[in-house]
Amino acid sequence: MAPLKILFAIVFCIGWLAFLKFPLLSRKKKKPPGPRRFPIIGNALQMPRNYEWGTLSKWAKEYGDLVYLETFGRPVVLLNSRKVAKDLLEHRSAIYSDRPHLFSSGFDKAFVLQQHNDDWRLQRKIVSQDLSPRMVPRYHNFLESAARHLARDVIQDPSRLTHLVKLKIGTILIRIFYGHYVSTDDDPFLTLVKASMNIFSKAAASGVWLVDSIPLLKHLPTWLPGTSSLLTAKSWRRIVSKAVWAPYAQSKHSFEVGSVLLPNTCSTALETIGENLSADQEEKVVWAVGTMTAGWLETSIIGTLNFFLAMMLNPKVQIKAQKEIDSVIGRDRLPTVADKSSLPYVRSVVAEVLRLNPPIPLGIFHALSTDDVYEGMHIPKGSAVIANIWHMLHDAEVFSDPMRFDPDRYRNLDSEMDKVANVVFGFGRRQCPGRLLAESVIFAIAVTVLATCDIFPTVDKNGSDIIPNVVYSSGIFRFPSRFACDIRPRSDEAYDLLSLSC
Ligand code: HEM
Repeated sequence: MAPLKILFAIVFCIGWLAFLKFPLLSRKKKKPPGPRRFPIIGNALQMPRNYEWGTLSKWAKEYGDLVYLETFGRPVVLLNSRKVAKDLLEHRSAIYSDRPHLFSSGFDKAFVLQQHNDDWRLQRKIVSQDLSPRMVPRYHNFLESAARHLARDVIQDPSRLTHLVKLKIGTILIRIFYGHYVSTDDDPFLTLVKASMNIFSKAAASGVWLVDSIPLLKHLPTWLPGTSSLLTAKSWRRIVSKAVWAPYAQSKHSFEVGSVLLPNTCSTALETIGENLSADQEEKVVWAVGTMTAGWLETSIIGTLNFFLAMMLNPKVQIKAQKEIDSVIGRDRLPTVADKSSLPYVRSVVAEVLRLNPPIPLGIFHALSTDDVYEGMHIPKGSAVIANIWHMLHDAEVFSDPMRFDPDRYRNLDSEMDKVANVVFGFGRRQCPGRLLAESVIFAIAVTVLATCDIFPTVDKNGSDIIPNVVYSSGIFRFPSRFACDIRPRSDEAYDLLSLSC
């Protein structure tokens, strides 16, 4: 028997060595590179809890364009270049367009978090029809008017910049989506929308809650120890549901009695569906418009605040953009969104604002619906897929001296600016449906403010500039901390033009 035992031992050792050395023999598929994973927990302990984009960018530099991670067996892949993001999220969008489950937020009926299914398709169609290149210009007049009000208000009281920007972006949103004009800070529409956004931010920042990872947990009674997050989740769901239904109900009522402001997204949807609106269709409209609200509010506020900040910190850029407006438009009228095509430097300023400080630095996670192989590497079904937008927009090989604010880098060429727009709004079938509207809103505000205002740092008692130390929030949205600046009219004529148009 002894020789047989020895033979067994030799075969076992050879097998074990083969397993360690040649993963293929052990039927283990080659995964993309990534930080070392520990048994069971994988990379859970290495996952950043704050300022995620910093750590993820460090991994991008260390491991390359495609990085593999795992948390408690859940695979996560990180896409660090436009090429890989395009190859997977665009060219293979049929399998890379799901979302990871996010039960706790209360937003699970919202199409932003839905799987790549018919519900998602229908909701996206409902809003896309109102935000297509043909339809968005219907809102230009309103956007210009809102931008002029904002410019006048910030001149009157620059210390309320953040508040005024939030109010104006909320006003634009509610007017366009629901046909209601917000005229006071405590407008109930606005309060509801803000409450639901707060929850969305928190849920998304918490990343993958336990209940999200293990959906069965949501059926546990909430008195059990350790299930407090379920209670929070339940109360969130109630608030979010109210936040999406209440403005819709109001808008629908105004539509029916003929008092709604037209055009607006809800009315467009109701008109398209016609008289026989089923309960199911109505729910789709409610969540479709509610989802757009979630997409809009924080991103546009962030983009606008970052524009003011960039202008204050880069006076030469501010002057150069103002000169372009003066030479193309003159000083006798205010610019409009239709002037966009003749103002390439102002467009470059907007692109640079979005590049340097992308509002959603890691996009919204996609999920892979079936096993895939990319350049010989196996990507498992169910992987959460992170488009590392931050890294793509700060990659020194694409944007030299990436931390510098420099609109000249685009040489006034749209093909160069597209390197930002084609990344900052995400990828493939899940790419931001509000892109055109967002670009129009930020452009309208930027061009109006540049034409009529000078933005400076505030000064201390000795007359020296106070350069604010702005820090950005963690989580899905990268929000700048509050900063002070001084905003004055460029001239009496500019202020008169503003006052006349408000
Ligand atoms: C500067 C402003 C904005 C930026 C940077 C931005 C960026 C993004 C990004 C990165 C995504 C994820 C795309 C992906 O999964 O690959 C996204 C999705 C989305 N955005 Fe935006 N967005 C902006 C403004 C808006 C606006 C104004 C709206 C609404 C009018 C909006 C509505 C949405 C919606 C509904 C989704 C989810 C799409 C889906 O899951 O199918 N966004 N956005």
